[in-house]
Amino acid sequence: MEKSKVKPADGKLGIMVVGLGAVTSTFMTGVLMARKGLAKPVGSMTQYDKIRVGKGNDKKYLSYYDIVPLAKLDDIVFGAWDVYPANAYQSAMYAEVLKEKDINPVKDELSKIVPFKAAFDKNYAKRLDGDNVKSCATRWDMVEELRADIKKFKADNGLDRVVVAWAASTEIYVEPNLKVHDTLAHLEEAMKANDTVNIAPSMCYAYAALAEGCPFIMGAPNTTVDIPAMWEMSEKLNVPIAGKDFKTGQTLVKSGFAPIIGTRCLGLAGWFSTNILGNRDGLVLDEPANFHTKEVSKLSTLESILQADKQPDLYTDYYHKVRINYYPPRNDNKEGWDNIDIFGWMGYPMQIKINFLCRDSILAAPLLLDLCLLSDLAARAGKGGIQRFLSFFLKAPMHDYTKNEEPVNHLFQQYTMLKNAIREMGGYEADEEID
Ligand SMILES: NC(=O)c1ccc[n+]([C@@H]2O[C@H](COP(=O)([O-])OP(=O)(O)OC[C@H]3O[C@@H](n4cnc5c(N)ncnc54)[C@H](O)[C@@H]3O)[C@@H](O)[C@H]2O)c1
Repeated sequence: MEKSKVKPADGKLGIMVVGLGAVTSTFMTGVLMARKGLAKPVGSMTQYDKIRVGKGNDKKYLSYYDIVPLAKLDDIVFGAWDVYPANAYQSAMYAEVLKEKDINPVKDELSKIVPFKAAFDKNYAKRLDGDNVKSCATRWDMVEELRADIKKFKADNGLDRVVVAWAASTEIYVEPNLKVHDTLAHLEEAMKANDTVNIAPSMCYAYAALAEGCPFIMGAPNTTVDIPAMWEMSEKLNVPIAGKDFKTGQTLVKSGFAPIIGTRCLGLAGWFSTNILGNRDGLVLDEPANFHTKEVSKLSTLESILQADKQPDLYTDYYHKVRINYYPPRNDNKEGWDNIDIFGWMGYPMQIKINFLCRDSILAAPLLLDLCLLSDLAARAGKGGIQRFLSFFLKAPMHDYTKNEEPVNHLFQQYTMLKNAIREMGGYEADEEID
């Protein structure tokens, strides 16, 4: 790490998560258990991956901690907001993702993580009815109360820095409105005028985080920070933002599998993806307006990997469909099916079937950890605005669509972007090209 010019990770890092549900409680329990040496943070790039630096005789494979100054798990302090008053222990028990034997050794620490009252509007998630909610007259009041929460959390825990991440329910779809979401001035006007149609509660969390100098990560597919006004704010204040939507199960498979079809110049006629899921996330997504937000995010993956304009014979008009079905018996153990209709030599059809029996929160927890640690790193490296190097972790990576910038969805190109950013922040050359 001798070469890195990034500010050191001195002091404690606060991680405040919006939503203390299945993902968040699984994440917090895992970090606390790993700290005690009682569990391994499997699936986390920052804890396991090794990156090559240097070439030829100087070539070395180093862990992220040996290249850049990342915060240590021991230095993390957790906070949260939720619509329900349950603490992190109660939430982990309720979620039933982890067995009691994997929660009880850190029961005391988890019980002390009590959520702040949520900035919530039932119109954005009709199926939730908790009462741990702030009473705010306007969206601007929400912002001010959330800023006060962040300040209090920081002072009470003697923190050096705070990162804010959204792992709360998916809100209903908010269409980017380029009369309201175009500039920071317009966004602030709308918050003050209490424009509840264009300003989702999640935007108040993001605004409050950025105003307090805290990087903000959007783990759901919500529009929130994916608007020019938020890009402007994060660039002006030089604070990182990242989003949207953790790339955990089916989309991870898609962004890793589609390159096989594309690289081998096979054709695609259709890709049908369906899931059954029975946790609270599944319940919220059973509401069509909330599912639409997810659908937009999940559909975007293939278009940038298998492109009709580059290969009209192979990828024109393929049919891409994504469904999520609420099915309580499976709880967090989501099952995903993919049916892929491809074609080969002279157009002859073939099929590929993928059946992924995964665990949603087990896949999401390491992503949340990596996104928080890497956003904190980016902040100390002086990087504001959209962090494209974090696309690897996200289903619908943010990009400036007003300038026709294209998202990178190809998993291995995203991995190259990630490695190059770590190399650069570590004072090494970014030496792999994305073609
Ligand atoms: N697990 C995965 O694989 C995965 C992948 C991608 C995205 N996500 C997203 O992550 C999010 C969390 O998933 P989960 O399984 O933990 O869901 P969950 O329902 O268990 O937890 C979400 C929590 O957010 C709370 N909440 C809702 N609105 C809030 C608000 N305005 N302020 C504060 N709290 C609020 C809810 O009360 C709930 O406790 C969802 O949006 C989900 O779509 C999950």
